[in-house]
Amino acid sequence: MSGAASPSSAPMPDVRVRPLLPLRADLAGLEPYGAPQLDVPVRLNVNENPFAPSPEVVEDIAASVGRAAAGLNRYPDRDFPELREALADYLAVESHVRVDPESIWAANGSNEVMLQILQAFGGCGRTVVSFAPTYSMYHEYARDTCTHWVQGDRGDGFRLDLAEVERVLEREHPSVLLLASPNNPTGTALDPRAVHRVLDMARASGPLVQGGRSATLVVVDEAYGEFRRQGVPSALELLGDHPHLVVSRTMSKAFGMAGLRLGYMAAAPEVIDSIMLVRLPYHLSALTQAAALAALRHRDALMTQIAGLRAERDALAAWLVEQGHQVAESDANFILFGTFPDRNAVFRALLERGVLIRVVGPEGWLRVSVGTPEETEAFKAALKEATA
Ligand SMILES: Cc1ncc(COP(=O)(O)O)c(C=O)c1O
Repeated sequence: MSGAASPSSAPMPDVRVRPLLPLRADLAGLEPYGAPQLDVPVRLNVNENPFAPSPEVVEDIAASVGRAAAGLNRYPDRDFPELREALADYLAVESHVRVDPESIWAANGSNEVMLQILQAFGGCGRTVVSFAPTYSMYHEYARDTCTHWVQGDRGDGFRLDLAEVERVLEREHPSVLLLASPNNPTGTALDPRAVHRVLDMARASGPLVQGGRSATLVVVDEAYGEFRRQGVPSALELLGDHPHLVVSRTMSKAFGMAGLRLGYMAAAPEVIDSIMLVRLPYHLSALTQAAALAALRHRDALMTQIAGLRAERDALAAWLVEQGHQVAESDANFILFGTFPDRNAVFRALLERGVLIRVVGPEGWLRVSVGTPEETEAFKAALKEATA
């Protein structure tokens, strides 16, 4: 140091010392979220569709992205009406519910959709609630948007306990309630009567707004919606009568496009208008829009694949029960099973045999995604050895 005086009377900091970064105190020391991405033969840990897109889909996506690339000097369409229309058409076929394209919104994965919901409806002084065990990212959306996080408990069989929901709503007056159906990591779908009841409870359970009790925005996260069993309706059916309902969906799971990063939601136009206030301009790239549109053109082929995965799930659940394991009832493309005195030991034994699953959920349980028939066989053989 030269010792030269700075313009103020404070001494100049020593340039040889690494400056401290002003990371938010609540983030200091935390680990980033994410399941291990390991290069092993059988990956059954993040609930992807195990089948790669067909050559026709790949070709269509490549050609569409190529055409979009020719216009990349321009920003993409900020409101992407064509994609919203294609998503609305898809929902009409998949769930038999016709939603206006203006009631659809999309972002880079449903994680981003739900983060935007909390940016608009959560925030400092607001509360978001959910019921555990459930998707662990919910807590992170809350943390990242300065929204107070409250977690109640699910009841028997990991079902929603309506008395508990009522208690939590009355006590916390949350602005947002996040409910996954089918739930991750348990696979449990919400009983449609329960969703209806929750929507009634939530009509005036939110924070005070202009002197009156607002609603709690109820987000039903149907990331795994397409895997629900026959006869289980989508919460989309309730949208018309409930402007405080949001149904979130994704192309990452059943649609087999996890790498695309395209999630979306259906909600009343007022909700979508609110999201527009917080979304970053041009958040959905022209390449993403083009690829998603191309993939949606092949929805029929995809929907045939879903039936196969559902059958594979049910057969795997039955096999696990035969082997003496406890199995949570699943409407998703994964199964929570257990319980093991040392689940980490079972996880490691499977990994040593080239099979990656997930340590998640209540103590003693493990989660496995439904893979191809060959992957399922490899999992079964490895589990038999690991638990022999
Ligand atoms: C319940 C649930 N919701 C949302 C997501 C996020 O999916 P994406 O951001 O890929 O759409 C996941 C991913 O695992 C999930 O399990």
